[in-house]
Amino acid sequence: MSDVSFWYKKKVLITGCTGFKGSWLTTWLIELGAEVYGYSLTPPTSPSMFELLDLQNKFTYCVGDIRNYQDFNNFLNQVNPEIVLHLAAQPLVRYSYANPIETYQTNVLGLVNVLESIRHNKKVKAIVNVTSDKCYENKEWIWGYRENEPMGGHDPYSNSKGCAELVTSCYQKSYFNVKTYGVEHNTLLASGRAGNVIGGGDWADDRLITDMIKAFLGNKSVRIRNPLAIRPWQHVLEPLSGYLMLAEQLYNGNTAFANSWNFGPDDTQVKNVEYIVDRLCKMWGDSANWVLDNESHPHEANYLKLDCSKARAELNWHPQWNLEDTLIKIIDWYQTFKYGGDLYQKTLEHIDLYSRSI
Ligand SMILES: NC(=O)c1ccc[n+]([C@@H]2O[C@H](COP(=O)([O-])OP(=O)(O)OC[C@H]3O[C@@H](n4cnc5c(N)ncnc54)[C@H](O)[C@@H]3O)[C@@H](O)[C@H]2O)c1
Repeated sequence: MSDVSFWYKKKVLITGCTGFKGSWLTTWLIELGAEVYGYSLTPPTSPSMFELLDLQNKFTYCVGDIRNYQDFNNFLNQVNPEIVLHLAAQPLVRYSYANPIETYQTNVLGLVNVLESIRHNKKVKAIVNVTSDKCYENKEWIWGYRENEPMGGHDPYSNSKGCAELVTSCYQKSYFNVKTYGVEHNTLLASGRAGNVIGGGDWADDRLITDMIKAFLGNKSVRIRNPLAIRPWQHVLEPLSGYLMLAEQLYNGNTAFANSWNFGPDDTQVKNVEYIVDRLCKMWGDSANWVLDNESHPHEANYLKLDCSKARAELNWHPQWNLEDTLIKIIDWYQTFKYGGDLYQKTLEHIDLYSRSI
């Protein structure tokens, strides 16, 4: 990161702090000495990283729903954060097929509530809105998507993230416009589009690593839906470091950063599901194995890559861990869980290792 001391005593609000990425981000920012506040529904899974790390007793967090404008607005105005990292979302593709209304209400209207509340608060200097690589209109081609390509999304989740990008763009133009920055407002807004994020601490259903770990822990064969699907896998700390770098630039008033940013792995690290499944089965040991799930499932993208040239060239953000390093960390974290080790210390150890490589 460009300046770790930047975060010391900064007042930061994280929405979605009880989730997978939110728990890592909260831990990291507490470690950096930030004054961290959280706003979120209760942890979306059981077990959850949030509870396993006892985060509820380590910072100030409010159980609340971003679909409720008044509730979020009250909390924001009590805290008056300088920086908002917006991660709260309904993030699951298959769940979104069954629950499109909830998905759009949370991912689109919830975002409008957050941005609208910040607009009236006037004290927030930097907002990073977390969306997804799935926001792009997926053409199933071999090239990585660039930030200026059309939004889209086949399924309700992906589409809601495309909509969230349009909402972000509207607020960038209408209310947090860089041309009127410092005159009419003091807020800069950017969006971070990350690929498939993996790492210890994820327990959400229908995600590759979680499905595998749950099967391993239960001594079952893991059922794999789409072994040839290609995704930009990366350790959770990679995009989080990107969000932090972005927030720092926005806070410092660098208007050139108030737009959208892709965060994904190097091309050489983009592998298909089968590769990852085979590696993890070998690394876990015991009798870990997988079988092909031949049942029919709702449509999911087969080929998805990001072009991250912009983040590399302008933000000086670079992935630090290759896929093998990442898989080793995943096994390490879940084996610590399996054998009842200290998961807060393990998480800090991964953060420290990662920070030293930046
Ligand atoms: N995990 C990935 O691979 C991945 C990839 C790209 C983008 N993302 C994005 O990153 C963000 C975090 O994802 P995650 O993997 O940590 O998901 P997660 O499900 O683990 O966490 C989601 C968080 O949002 C909170 N939340 C959900 N609905 C809410 C509501 N109505 N009001 C308040 N809080 C609510 C949950 O309680 C939880 O804290 C999401 O925006 C997601 O779309 C995730």
